[in-house]
Amino acid sequence: MNKRIYLCLAHMSGKEQEFIQEAFDTNWVVPLGPNVNAFEKDLEAFVGENKKVVALSAGTAAIHLGLVQLGVKPGDEVICQSFTFCASANPVVYQGATPVFVDSEADTWNMSPVLLEEAIKDRIEKTGKKPKAIIPVHLYGMPAKIDEICAVAAKYDIPVLEDAAEAFGSEYKGRKCGTFGRFGALSFNGNKMITTSGGGALITPDEEAKQRTMFFATQAREAFPYYQHEEIGYNYRMSNICAGIGRGQMTVLDEHIAHHRHVHALYEEAFRNVEGITLMSNPDERFNANYWLCTILIDKNVTGYDYEELRQALDAKGIETRPLWKPMHLQPVYKNNPCYVDGTSERLFGMGLCLPAGPYVTDDDVRYIVDEILNYKR
Ligand SMILES: Cc1ncc(COP(=O)(O)O)c(C=O)c1O
Repeated sequence: MNKRIYLCLAHMSGKEQEFIQEAFDTNWVVPLGPNVNAFEKDLEAFVGENKKVVALSAGTAAIHLGLVQLGVKPGDEVICQSFTFCASANPVVYQGATPVFVDSEADTWNMSPVLLEEAIKDRIEKTGKKPKAIIPVHLYGMPAKIDEICAVAAKYDIPVLEDAAEAFGSEYKGRKCGTFGRFGALSFNGNKMITTSGGGALITPDEEAKQRTMFFATQAREAFPYYQHEEIGYNYRMSNICAGIGRGQMTVLDEHIAHHRHVHALYEEAFRNVEGITLMSNPDERFNANYWLCTILIDKNVTGYDYEELRQALDAKGIETRPLWKPMHLQPVYKNNPCYVDGTSERLFGMGLCLPAGPYVTDDDVRYIVDEILNYKR
């Protein structure tokens, strides 16, 4: 095999160009317009629950605007999942607040509800005030134990902002990830379930929150004929061109999700009886991951090699894989932040790899990847 197999490449439906052409023909080449409105309608129809969605320039911007609207300010603390990509936590710092990191549980690899409650109690005891928000993540598209997390959050009356950047289309008990918290963030970056080249969206509870999000995304301009600003805003709106890509992508979203789940099923079959290699799968029927990336854990005591050795060997065979996210509490930039950890994410980081799962990964590719893994050092 001489082609290279990537984790998750962008894949176009073919309709994207039509929407972009329409934008050019009507000269809507700005960060708002008919494609943006139509893309938001598509997103609202998809996530359901009567949510209102605002298309933005990035998933990071969505998390940031969620925090802005939750009133996160300098001196506040926000509880973040440690096991994630840095964009889940960085916007907390943009607000001058402090991320407090909480470890994952082993079933979903997401925020442990038990450690979450411990962290809340301890922060209240240590600082005399409650954390301002909680940001759980649905990592690699696996839903977090979101009802338990929301129950803890409700007990202390702290709002939840879900990071569903990797979990577009994932469901917990039949409900879409990103619709459980007060806000939910989606990402349409180049490697995500669908792409707008770069982009994201904030899922908001109602029309008022949607309008407020758009206000902050367009430099907080007040309703005057001249430019009047009474609050600090941002330039975070999605462009009408990118939204055209998004509209085209929505026509293949279901196909993409089905494909990722199909690839996962192939890996599941192939690794079923392989000692030392464990594929991450839905813990039970409540969870319905989109399997954005398929992930394995390698027990080097059994296999005789670790994830990095395997990563390099697969790379040489034309297969892109990637270590799991390095937990935030282990990142130099966050080394002094409070954290409530029990070793779970550190252990996962030390033994995991992401495998290709995107739209261009064929059944033959999966067979090739699995064979290369099974034949490595055996
Ligand atoms: C877990 C997680 N959160 C947030 C983001 C940020 O999204 P974006 O790249 O669109 O800013 C990403 C992806 O990049 C992500 O994987």
